[in-house]
Amino acid sequence: MPTDLLRRAYDPAEFRQLGHALIDRLADYLEGVESRPANPYATPDKSLEHFRQLLADGPAPERVFAEVIDHSVHLHHPAYLGHQVVPPAPLSALSDVAASLLNTGMAIFEMGRAGTAMERVVVERFAELLELAPTAGGFLTSGGSLANLTALLAARAVHGEPVRPCLLVNEHAHYCVERAVRIMGWGDAGIIHVPTDAHLRMRTEVIDGILADARAAGRTPVAIVGSACTTATGTYDPISALADVAERHGLWLHIDGAHGGAIRLDPGRRHLVDGLERADSLALDFHKMLMTPAITTGLFFRRGPDAYRIFRQRADYLLAAADDGWSDIARRSFECTKRMLSLRIFTLLTTYGPQLFVDYVTRVGDLGETLARLVRQSPDLELFTHPDVNIVCFRFRHASLDEESRNGLNGLIRARLTEAGQTYIVQTTIDGSLYLRCTLTNAFTTEDHLRAMVEEVSRTGREMLALRSTIGH
Ligand SMILES: Cc1ncc(COP(=O)(O)O)c(C=O)c1O
Repeated sequence: MPTDLLRRAYDPAEFRQLGHALIDRLADYLEGVESRPANPYATPDKSLEHFRQLLADGPAPERVFAEVIDHSVHLHHPAYLGHQVVPPAPLSALSDVAASLLNTGMAIFEMGRAGTAMERVVVERFAELLELAPTAGGFLTSGGSLANLTALLAARAVHGEPVRPCLLVNEHAHYCVERAVRIMGWGDAGIIHVPTDAHLRMRTEVIDGILADARAAGRTPVAIVGSACTTATGTYDPISALADVAERHGLWLHIDGAHGGAIRLDPGRRHLVDGLERADSLALDFHKMLMTPAITTGLFFRRGPDAYRIFRQRADYLLAAADDGWSDIARRSFECTKRMLSLRIFTLLTTYGPQLFVDYVTRVGDLGETLARLVRQSPDLELFTHPDVNIVCFRFRHASLDEESRNGLNGLIRARLTEAGQTYIVQTTIDGSLYLRCTLTNAFTTEDHLRAMVEEVSRTGREMLALRSTIGH
């Protein structure tokens, strides 16, 4: 017999009451988010102490939810300008509740019927919207890092058993590409960083020479990985030129479009990913530029069946040996049990249609332009480079500052802003120089929010500079 405790944990009446209260709380939160600081800052130790105490108190779920909200950075706050995680469309988050409760798993069709069918529909629809090749296919997986690794496993599989394999990638690519190379056991020489131009785009004209050197050193080049875009600066590698080189040398072209592949939907910026349909594989995070909760990634293959080459394994308890059909996704994905990721996208498509995604990517790209203009107009600040999309890097400058002190000062500015919490920006180091970095992920950020942040950075920089001259450096 189930115990009383088990009965309570599964009680539909309690679920109904808690669920209604939670949705009310979250809707109030969304309505009133601007009355909070964007980033209620706390140190790791303070947070740990707080949640240890909360566990000890044994509060009701209502209080736990309230505390979690209060102690979170607020992505729906229009002054949130931090890392590349999107404030999810509420309907997508709601879909997660249903998916979590049903919890059907997605390894095989028998277990995840609705999710599997929706996944195929969503992948097909996005392959069309992104104007990929008519032969394209793919699946959803948990994160850009895993999608990039999976794509590279496919690249390797296509090459049979390559001797001392290696790949070429932008020196500023996301670290997960290097991690994938290490996981595959290719060693330090398995990743060749291609030098970049002043905008940090891969210099495609040097690739022939790099490939010749690699071959002369006994390596087998397997793939070129293009970034669309890079994480730190939002720079797009030239995909058509990369596709030309890859074709000429018989290499797999993978595009890490985790952040910016979705820009294909923006008519004004589509040119940034010209040639995307020629990539052998493409990773695209819906949780970065397509409005779903983390983590939801599409992995697309130019020739859909390539995905079946990756993991050729027997698992008699799960996968029927004779069945090579599309519907048992575990054949292709690294994951066995997987969340019903597709519902997050499916509901947005059925309710709002694809125009929602077009509106979103266009809006955040425009915000990138707006921020770049405001930075240019400020005599205290300088842009790293004109942004391609919604990632903008800039820094405080002053004639009296050398590189080291400018880096130190910009680090202090960012720390001060983080502690103040009214806005949330991050930082990155490019070739030894520290830049403040913003990702415009919130479609409701306005020019006023951006101006307030720019002014705060300038004011803080000037105050610190004044303090520095008072105390004599
Ligand atoms: C270009 C790029 N690739 C891959 C990743 C990793 O994606 P995920 O965090 O979904 O694993 C990121 C994350 O920032 C990214 O910007």
